Amino acid sequence: MLNTRNGHHPKSAELISRERREIKKLNTFLEIGRILAETNNLKTALAATLETLGRHHGMIRSFVMLLDSENERIRVEASYGLNQDSAHRITFRVGEGIIGRVVQSGKPVVVPQTSREPLLFNRLRGHEEHVTRKEISFICVPIVIGGKAAGAVGADLIYKEERDYDRTTKFLSVIAAMMAQALKVKQGIEADKKRLLDENIHLKQELRERYDFGQIVGNSNPMRLVYEQVTQVARTNTTVLLRGESGTGKEMIAHAIHYNSLRASKPFVKISCAALPNTLIESELFGYEKGAFTGAQSRKKGRFELADGGTLFLDEIGDLDLTTQVKLLRVLQEREFERLGGVDTIKVNVRLIVATNKDLEEAIKRRQFREDLYYRLNVFTIFMPPLRERKPDILLLAEHFVEKFEREHNKRIKRISTPAIDMLTSYHWPGNVRELENVIERAVLVCESNVVHGHHLPPSLQTAEGSDTVTRLSLASAMEAYERDLIQDALKTARGNRAKAAKLLDSTERIVGYKVKKYGIRCDRFRA
Ligand SMILES: Nc1ncnc2c1ncn2[C@@H]1O[C@H](COP(=O)(O)OP(=O)(O)OP(=O)(O)O)[C@@H](O)[C@H]1O
Ligand SMILES: [Mg+2]
Repeated sequence: MLNTRNGHHPKSAELISRERREIKKLNTFLEIGRILAETNNLKTALAATLETLGRHHGMIRSFVMLLDSENERIRVEASYGLNQDSAHRITFRVGEGIIGRVVQSGKPVVVPQTSREPLLFNRLRGHEEHVTRKEISFICVPIVIGGKAAGAVGADLIYKEERDYDRTTKFLSVIAAMMAQALKVKQGIEADKKRLLDENIHLKQELRERYDFGQIVGNSNPMRLVYEQVTQVARTNTTVLLRGESGTGKEMIAHAIHYNSLRASKPFVKISCAALPNTLIESELFGYEKGAFTGAQSRKKGRFELADGGTLFLDEIGDLDLTTQVKLLRVLQEREFERLGGVDTIKVNVRLIVATNKDLEEAIKRRQFREDLYYRLNVFTIFMPPLRERKPDILLLAEHFVEKFEREHNKRIKRISTPAIDMLTSYHWPGNVRELENVIERAVLVCESNVVHGHHLPPSLQTAEGSDTVTRLSLASAMEAYERDLIQDALKTARGNRAKAAKLLDSTERIVGYKVKKYGIRCDRFRA
């Protein structure tokens, strides 16, 4: 350094040198500001910041330590000039040592000559100190977020008597404030991410509960066989073919298989072959590359890729066209495929469940379904029994749906009347469980008391013969159905006693007796 004795010179050498230092600091602020703002990996950005301080400001060793709010420990997040392995293993408690004190008090600490306070140091530095053999100064400033110290930045400098330690501390404090800002942004993002993740876990849990066995109603023999088969096959990777009429619960069973498999935490992806035109199915299944066809503006993953690790449910497989059948067969055989317009071969680990209500054997005869694909799919078949073949389940299901819709529509329903139960059990349910579900929802909606009566059920159920009476149903027969319903209900309450039933109905025993005969009601049924 030039030593001009000329102290009143307008621009002494010292002044020039100080100006230079200030300009250098400003440049550093700019550089560090950019590093911290542009990063998406804060750890690396902090390390780069420390390196800048090392290169331009003589901070030969430095570190950023952060307070882990979970275990109240302060640990190294980034360092410069320190032995990475040992430094990153060290932790302090709040209040412990210089760093612990800085975090506790939120105030900087400056030790101009560390050799004078040997007890305070050395855990972090290890052996490096002996290398320099010079007197070292140590400065540590807090990183403050929202009025609380979230960590500290510490740096070693070569001791210089003439150094303005106050200014250097202020300089480091500005850097710490910039780090605090970056940390705050990161914490905000992480809190958002955690909230989303929690929400996702919660939703998945809800899904699992919904499709767990617990939600599948029915203990008739045909359903027990289904449960047994689901249990047998769930934990394997076997392709499952679900067959059965519309509304028998094929999709529900597909879910149950997935959520009872080892893939339960991985995606369950569904695609309905009937819902999409054939031209779209392929791109939906296999995805496409950018520019594969007009309108393909960016690469898109297909359902096979999306289901990787999990289960792909191909619904209405009987509606798949022949070209796509060939492609599907190849995936099943080789477990690999290409995106539309792509050359890369993609391998996936997907468990396939397919469903159909079509007669596949018939479709093969008519050359609408490939026989080789059929054999690939027909490995483990579960037949969903139609509702009419499991009468004992009808009441269980009806009650299950009453509960469901009572909750959904905020109603109180105590029970289903005996005549209504009779109507439900004698109907042949061509739409199976789905039809029953719809019938009960309607009944709950139109029910004006807390009992579901026969007249709350749709016309198709109004006669014992079941359907095809819709058009013939007259006012007279509707009234009769209603009347029969009321009488049966009163008899039930009166335990088969006609006189009591008549009283309940504000009628006479003679009239009730006449109606009982007319409708062929068996009073003994109600004598409990
Ligand atoms: N055993 C059951 N217990 C409770 N709900 C059921 C049961 N079976 C079916 N359901 C309900 O009935 C409705 C129809 O079931 P699902 O969609 O699984 O039938 P599907 O066989 O796939 O019908 P489709 O062939 O028409 O697509 C769903 O709302 C489902 O929740
Ligand atoms: Mg379905």
